[in-house]
Amino acid sequence: MSTFGHSTTTDDVLADRDLTGQTVFITGANSGLGQETARAMAARGAAVVMAGRDSAKLDEAVAAIRADVPDAALETIICDLGNLASIRACGAEARARFAKIDLLINNAGVMACPLAHTADGFEMQFGTNHLGHFALTAELLPLIEAGSGTKGSGRIVNLSSRGHHFAPVDLDDPNFTERAYDPWQSYGHSKTANILFTVGLEARYGAKGIHAYAVHPGGIRTNLGRHMTEEMTAALIERVTKSDSGFAWKTIPQGAATSCWAATAPELEGTGGVYCEDCHVAPVDNESSAGGVRSYALDPAAAERLWTLSEQLTGAHYPG
Ligand SMILES: NC(=O)c1ccc[n+]([C@@H]2O[C@H](COP(=O)([O-])OP(=O)(O)OC[C@H]3O[C@@H](n4cnc5c(N)ncnc54)[C@H](OP(=O)(O)O)[C@@H]3O)[C@@H](O)[C@H]2O)c1
Repeated sequence: MSTFGHSTTTDDVLADRDLTGQTVFITGANSGLGQETARAMAARGAAVVMAGRDSAKLDEAVAAIRADVPDAALETIICDLGNLASIRACGAEARARFAKIDLLINNAGVMACPLAHTADGFEMQFGTNHLGHFALTAELLPLIEAGSGTKGSGRIVNLSSRGHHFAPVDLDDPNFTERAYDPWQSYGHSKTANILFTVGLEARYGAKGIHAYAVHPGGIRTNLGRHMTEEMTAALIERVTKSDSGFAWKTIPQGAATSCWAATAPELEGTGGVYCEDCHVAPVDNESSAGGVRSYALDPAAAERLWTLSEQLTGAHYPG
């Protein structure tokens, strides 16, 4: 049983890991948790492919990481998760440039934005956070299959959130065309979808040695709050903490620690389809606002329905 917890950092988690020879693909790697995950994994010898939608921001992030880890093996690739054409182009480019992917960290995200739509007409949070990663993972799966089979490879980490407590996935109205848009309902629904996607991946690929993990990183001040006013932040903290949960912010290295743990923990070898927080697998909890995973987010039947819907909406084709 590890002693890792709320204040564990990326460097704590990876202290005894050697990631030499591993290729890690990280979305949203130009900012916040994704950038820190890239830094920490590169510092342990991984070759990191940093995906983002803006090459100037990616170059800045590479320079920031190299200031800390001068010999970091970093490459960048453009992928706008709000645009299926960009996702397909990224997949084709990745398959041409890289021989394999050992660890995929589906980290990018948008939170509580005003109503907006992706290039393909999906509601922005569901479209980016879930459908974009669903389509990208299908594109990258041949590379993940090429990497799997060796110890410590074949893992997919999907950044979810405790915000999944706000809402189950709405399979009847995924894009808010039939009901009034609510930024938190949308975020919660998209973050539940991230967990159900994890369950669906595990059901399909677990027996083939590819395992998937959903992660709640904690509460961390990053650019994710760009759409929030001070009042929204205060109301959110009140909502997630209620009276007795002892909410405490994490630093960015603490926040990225659970992604690094889910991607590398030896105790997770051979298992998946779970939701992790504070560098542990979290229990099912349908009451607490202080942690745990809602049972609706692990429901295999809902995971199957979401998978079918996501294939229909994106046209993504998963290898059998
Ligand atoms: N911070 C927290 O407290 C917290 C809590 C729970 C869960 N999470 C989850 O953790 C993940 C990382 O968030 P963070 O806190 O590190 O936020 P962040 O600093 O805002 O980073 C988010 C990243 O996602 C990228 N992104 C957004 N829309 C994109 C798109 N259409 N295509 C490609 N990339 C896109 C952003 O790129 P741009 O810079 O180009 O916008 C950025 O690189 C998210 O999935 C979030 O939901 C965070």
